[in-house]
Amino acid sequence: MSDPVQFLLSMGHVLAAMSLYDKGHPARERAVDESYEKLQDLVHGEGNRQFTFVNREVVFDRQVLRELKEWEWGLRLASVGIERVEFDESTTRGDYEEFLRDAFFRFKGESLDTTEASYMRHTGIRYGSTLIDTEEGEPPEEIIQTSATIAYSLQEDIDTIEWMHRQVQEQGEIPMLEAEMVVRSLSTAMHNQEEILLPLLDLKEFDQYTTTHSTNVAVLAMALAEYIGLQGQDVRVMGVAGLLHDLGKVCIPKDILIKPGVFTDEERHEMQRHPVEGARIILGRDVRLEVPAIVAYEHHIMLNGNGYPSLHYSRTTHIASRLVHVCDVYDALCTNRPYRDAWTSEKALGLIEENSGHDFDPQFAGPFIQMMQQQKTQRVQFADPVVAAP
Ligand SMILES: [Fe+2]
Ligand SMILES: [Fe+2]
Repeated sequence: MSDPVQFLLSMGHVLAAMSLYDKGHPARERAVDESYEKLQDLVHGEGNRQFTFVNREVVFDRQVLRELKEWEWGLRLASVGIERVEFDESTTRGDYEEFLRDAFFRFKGESLDTTEASYMRHTGIRYGSTLIDTEEGEPPEEIIQTSATIAYSLQEDIDTIEWMHRQVQEQGEIPMLEAEMVVRSLSTAMHNQEEILLPLLDLKEFDQYTTTHSTNVAVLAMALAEYIGLQGQDVRVMGVAGLLHDLGKVCIPKDILIKPGVFTDEERHEMQRHPVEGARIILGRDVRLEVPAIVAYEHHIMLNGNGYPSLHYSRTTHIASRLVHVCDVYDALCTNRPYRDAWTSEKALGLIEENSGHDFDPQFAGPFIQMMQQQKTQRVQFADPVVAAP
C-alpha cells in the first residue's frame, strides 16, 4: 500500500503545478500522473479512503498524520470548504484532476459552474465540509450535496470511542483529535437527512454502557445546543463535553461499574469519584479543554447544589454542565441497567419535567422535553464491538 503522506505531498505538488502551468503543460501533466499513481496504490483493494483536514491536522481514515500537522495545502483545502475528501476505487485520473481543478478554482475565489459541480457528484470522489453548518454564511449548494453523500457509519464511531477509552486507561492520554472527529461525524449523521434525526444507541451488553452512553449524551447535547440556538464551535464543544463527561469511569473498578444491585457505601463512594477523576484526566491533557473538564466535574451536581462532588460553597454550575446534566439523566434512565429495566422516553421526560427548577435548569429541561417530543430518534442496536469498554 502506498503511503498516505507521500500521496498527499504529491497532491500538493499538483496544486502547486496548477498555479504555474496551464492544463496540458508536461510538468503539470507529469505531476498529475505521479500523484494519481500513488492514489491508485492507496485505494487499490481498500474500498474507499478518506482524508480529513480539521484543526490544522490531517487525518487519514481514523489515523492522525502527525507529520502533516499544519500542512499548508490541508489548511487551504479546509479554508475553501473541503474538509473531507473520500476517494474510492473507481476514481479515474480525470475525476482526480477535476477535483483538484475545483479546489484550485476555490483557492482563487472562482466558483464552479453547475455542470462541473454535478459531474463531481457522479465520480469516485466525494468531498465537502465535515459539518453542514452556516457559521460563515450559507455554504454553496454543491458543498451541501456532496457532504450529504459522504458515507456514514455509526459503528466506526463506536469503535473509535472504545479505542479512546482504552487509550485513556492504558496510556493515560486522551486522543483529542479523534474525540473531535467523532463529534463531527455524529453531527454529520444527525444532519444527513432532510430533518434532524438523532441516532441513539441501544445497549446490548452491560459492559458496553460507558461507550453507548457517551455517544448518546454527545448526540443529545449537540442536538439540544442547536435546538436552543447555539451554532458551530459552541455546539461541538457541547458534543465533546457530552462525549467525555464520564471519562473518569476508566478509573473505577469494572465490577463496581456493572454491579447488578445496590451499592454499599464504600462502592458508592468509589463510583462517585468519577467526576473528579474525569476532570483530572482531561485537564492533565490540555488546559484548553476547560469546558469538557468542568462538565466532567459538575455533571452530577443538580441545580439546587445537591449531588456530587459536594460544593464547598453554593454556586451555579457552568451552563454546559447544566445542559449535559439533562441529557445525561435522560439517557441513563432510558437504558437497561443491571438493577432495572430501561424507562420509556415519556416516563423519563416526565421525571425531567417534574424536577425542573430544582434538579434541572428550566432553561434546558423545557426545550429538551420539547425537542424530544418533536424530533425523530433512531435507536440503533449496539453491534458486537471488538473489545468491551470499561
Ligand atoms: Fe457520570
Ligand atoms: Fe453519565
